[in-house]
Amino acid sequence: MPADTLEKVVNFAKRRGFVFQSSEIYGGLSSCYDYGPLGVELKNNVKKAWWKAMVRERNDVVGLDSAILMHPKTWEASGHVEGFTDPLVDCKKCKKRWRADHLLEAKGIKPDFRPGEWDKSVTCPDCGGELTDVRKFNLMFKTFMGAVEDEASQIYLRPETCQGIYLNFLNVQQSMRLKLPFGVAQIGKAFRNEITPGHFTFRTREFEQMEQQYFVHPSEAKNTFAMWKEERMKWYQNLGIKKEKLRFREHQEKELAHYAKAAFDIEYDYPGMGFKELAGIHNRGDWDLSRHEEFSGQELKYFDQEKNAKYTPHIIETSDGADRAALAFLLDAYEEVEARSGKEDAKHEKEIILRLHKDLAPIKVAVLPLSKKEPLQKLSKEVRSGLRNTWMTQYDETGAIGKRYRRQDEIGTPYCVTIDFESLEDKQVTVRDRDTMEQERVEIGELKDYLDKKLGN
Ligand code: GAP
Repeated sequence: MPADTLEKVVNFAKRRGFVFQSSEIYGGLSSCYDYGPLGVELKNNVKKAWWKAMVRERNDVVGLDSAILMHPKTWEASGHVEGFTDPLVDCKKCKKRWRADHLLEAKGIKPDFRPGEWDKSVTCPDCGGELTDVRKFNLMFKTFMGAVEDEASQIYLRPETCQGIYLNFLNVQQSMRLKLPFGVAQIGKAFRNEITPGHFTFRTREFEQMEQQYFVHPSEAKNTFAMWKEERMKWYQNLGIKKEKLRFREHQEKELAHYAKAAFDIEYDYPGMGFKELAGIHNRGDWDLSRHEEFSGQELKYFDQEKNAKYTPHIIETSDGADRAALAFLLDAYEEVEARSGKEDAKHEKEIILRLHKDLAPIKVAVLPLSKKEPLQKLSKEVRSGLRNTWMTQYDETGAIGKRYRRQDEIGTPYCVTIDFESLEDKQVTVRDRDTMEQERVEIGELKDYLDKKLGN
């Protein structure tokens, strides 16, 4: 049975060391999360898989790691100071704050905000109190740079990573002698003072994005947009997300972000939430480079030697959330089955198996000696030493073997290597497959090659 509620996976994630509430001992910090020992491995593997597909395996995309803090004019040029806002209303009675568009949509009213024209029939959903007029709330976090805290020293924590790519467009193009079309990819933190964060790591105020900006001749934008749409969908499917749980959703004209000419979301069917955004593919046209050219006074054009022409490239953006992707992979891999192993422990009826793709599994190989006795322990530690340089491994010698298999199934470990007393004689170990539960005897000397064929590295 798949995860039927988000709550179930939230509890599991805490119990097995994937995700913890931030600042828990102080009562928690709302909508901020910490990744535990297994969560950090999962999220790192998500980012690694993205980098592999987007940079390492492509001839036309290079990487970048730009600073979180950027010149404040960046956000004027990008349109975020003016347009990155949510419409808010406050309850005059209980003081609770609400997203005005959400309240109207819930009543079947099309959100259309004009100053002083709030529909008085829409009241506070909690206490029925009268609501204030709508005001715009900017989602960017502000801070100050340097010793003086005044307007001149005010800067922002970036609300999206892609702006660092636009500002470095010429640096990257010229230093790497790149010809159009080419892409620039980066992974990094972004911050948004979301009004309605929630649903665990789905919407948080601090999160990580994996963004790629592909620069093309304007005539190529439409085809390139279609190409990246398919590529990004394939990436999620190739890493094991069930096809029926994914779909595209095209943005209607009125919901397009201020920079976008066209946009598709890749949506995932989250338990208890239904289909919601997982990632986006955006045709940003020449908005970003033109605006930064205007605000910086620096020409940001491409000189096409073959065409002997200078022009502003168009940008096709692929934007994925590392946290949202990790959550979708976790939810999709979570499965409860009837007890299938460890008959020596009849108490449990249900087992959890995390059927994560091998590239995403936090631990790739568990080494399990059948007994804690010295000769087995010594051999098992030698076996683990031979594997740990290549893969993330775990050593576990406590509890019955069935219980130990279950512990590994629960965290998604694709292979368990068991060392028994016969191993001392025949120099062979048993390799157990998480999904099929098949067991194979493998020569210790050939174990690395055997696992290499199964796991790659
Ligand atoms: N540069 C374009 C951009 O930022 P977006 O649709 O606002 O587009 C892209 O965000 C992706 O970033 C989303 O599809 C989602 O995966 C992730 N994301 C956005 N806001 C988030 C939040 N508050 N918490 C977690 N992930 C978020």
